[in-house]
Amino acid sequence: MEVILAKTAGFCFGVKRAVDTVYEQAGKQHVYTYGPIIHNEQVVSDLKKRGVRVLHSKGELEELKEGTVIIRSHGVPKEIYDIITSKGLELVDATCPFVRKIHRIVQKAGKEGKQIIITGSAEHPEVEGIRGWCSGKVTIISEASQMDEIDWKQPACLVSQTTFNYKKFQDIVEIIEKKGYDIEVCNTICNATEERQLEARSIAKNVDAMIVIGDRHSSNSQKLFEISSKECPSTFFIQTLEELDLRLFESTGKVGITAGASTPQKIIKEVHASMTEKSFEQLLEESLVTIHNG
Ligand code: F3S
Repeated sequence: MEVILAKTAGFCFGVKRAVDTVYEQAGKQHVYTYGPIIHNEQVVSDLKKRGVRVLHSKGELEELKEGTVIIRSHGVPKEIYDIITSKGLELVDATCPFVRKIHRIVQKAGKEGKQIIITGSAEHPEVEGIRGWCSGKVTIISEASQMDEIDWKQPACLVSQTTFNYKKFQDIVEIIEKKGYDIEVCNTICNATEERQLEARSIAKNVDAMIVIGDRHSSNSQKLFEISSKECPSTFFIQTLEELDLRLFESTGKVGITAGASTPQKIIKEVHASMTEKSFEQLLEESLVTIHNG
């Protein structure tokens, strides 16, 4: 069996930076992250063992009397920064610089009187964060068909959730260009996501089976699964090696592996090693059969 591991599998720059920041802070007293630092249960439980606690709501943050609050790569609304500083807590900002850039874009556009359109998922914390930097009207869309809901009389600024599907974003921009709307288009989809999606698609096209490794709550991992499944019907979504049923790959010629932005290298390596070992076992079996027949 041939195994192709995507070069872009795993932590992106922003997630690596955020996770490293939490590990650096972990030795201190009263360290909290505002929301789980990444969508990965293994990493979050390891950090818990090191004393890092997760704040799940604004209410929990408001109850804190002391300590350090780390903002994760997704970013948060402006209001959360204000609460942390007004309470005299230590703020460690691990927001990905690409997400901070979106906050600045929407803040500026709001001051210029523009409405904001965000392509992304309304429930995603990154989108909630972006929304929290907007001052005027905000519309969140995930499909081109939802563009009918927008009042095009007011000038607009379009930004995107960093992990939004690149193809869908292009479709929306194409419609905007055709209609000639008064809108500032900012493609804020992160290259890391785009490259990971493009590589997943190109690998999935050329393999018999595809494995996507990621936490089930990670939207970018789910998107990789969606993209890969379209090209390769035998696509499997797993969180860890334990969920991988190696028997399913017994007669598979070529397997591709990719992983979401919050998947630790350790898990990717384990899955890759198990697939490669399997082909080694197969080779061994085949050579034994040849020797036996000979
Ligand atoms: Fe940042 Fe891009 Fe990762 S926006 S968090 S480097 S996917």
